[in-house]
Amino acid sequence: TQDNVHQVAQLVDPASRVVYIDNDPIVLAHGRAILEENDRTAVIQADMRDTDGILGHPEVVRLIDFDEPVAALFVSVLHCIPGSDDPAGLVRRVADRLAPGSFLVVCQLVSEDAATRDFVTDYMAKSTGNQWGEVRRPEDVHVFLEGLEVLPPGLVEVSTWRPDSDLAPKQATQEWIEYGGVGRTW
Ligand SMILES: C[S@@+](CC[C@H](N)C(=O)[O-])C[C@H]1O[C@@H](n2cnc3c(N)ncnc32)[C@H](O)[C@@H]1O
Repeated sequence: TQDNVHQVAQLVDPASRVVYIDNDPIVLAHGRAILEENDRTAVIQADMRDTDGILGHPEVVRLIDFDEPVAALFVSVLHCIPGSDDPAGLVRRVADRLAPGSFLVVCQLVSEDAATRDFVTDYMAKSTGNQWGEVRRPEDVHVFLEGLEVLPPGLVEVSTWRPDSDLAPKQATQEWIEYGGVGRTW
C-alpha cells in the first residue's frame, strides 16, 4: 500500500504513466481508492490473459504509447495462471507487442521441493477462493524471460534484486519464495 509502481515511477519522472490491471472487483475498489491519484494513473478491470482486450482498453490507449519502450510488470501474478493456460505464452504475447528496449518484470512463487509446491498450491487454491494456478520450480520462471536480455543479477529471490538498502525486508523462509527478475526486449 505504499511506494506503489506509479509512485516509484512518478518520483523519478512525474510524467510517467501507469495502468494497473486486476480482475477482482474488491481489489479494483481498493485499488482505485489508493492508486488513481492523478490523471497519469489508471486501474482497469481485466483478465490478464486477455492481451488484446487490455492493450486495446481505452485507458491503456490513452496512457501508454506502445511506439516507445515501456515496462510490463507481472509481479506476483503468474502463479495465478495454471500451466494449462500457458503463462509463458501470455508473457510472450505481451513482449511481442513492446517496442525494443522495453522491460518485462516477472516474479512468482517457487519452491525447489515438490512436496512444498504441491502443499502451497493446494493451500492457496483453498484459501483464496479465487482463481489460482501453481507454485512452480525456479527454472520454470526462467522460461518466462526466454529470448530477452536478462538484466543482472538475473533471476533471484525478489528482495535481493538490487535492494535499495541493507534494511530491505528479507524473505523469512527459503522453503517457498517469490522469485523473478527483469528482461529487456531487443
Ligand atoms: C499476489 S497478488 C499481487 C498483486 C500485485 N501485483 C502486487 O504485487 O502487490 C495477485 C493478484 O492477481 C490478481 N489476479 C489473479 N488472477 C488474475 C487474472 N487472471 N487476471 C487479472 N488479475 C488476476 C488477483 O486478484 C490479485 O490481486
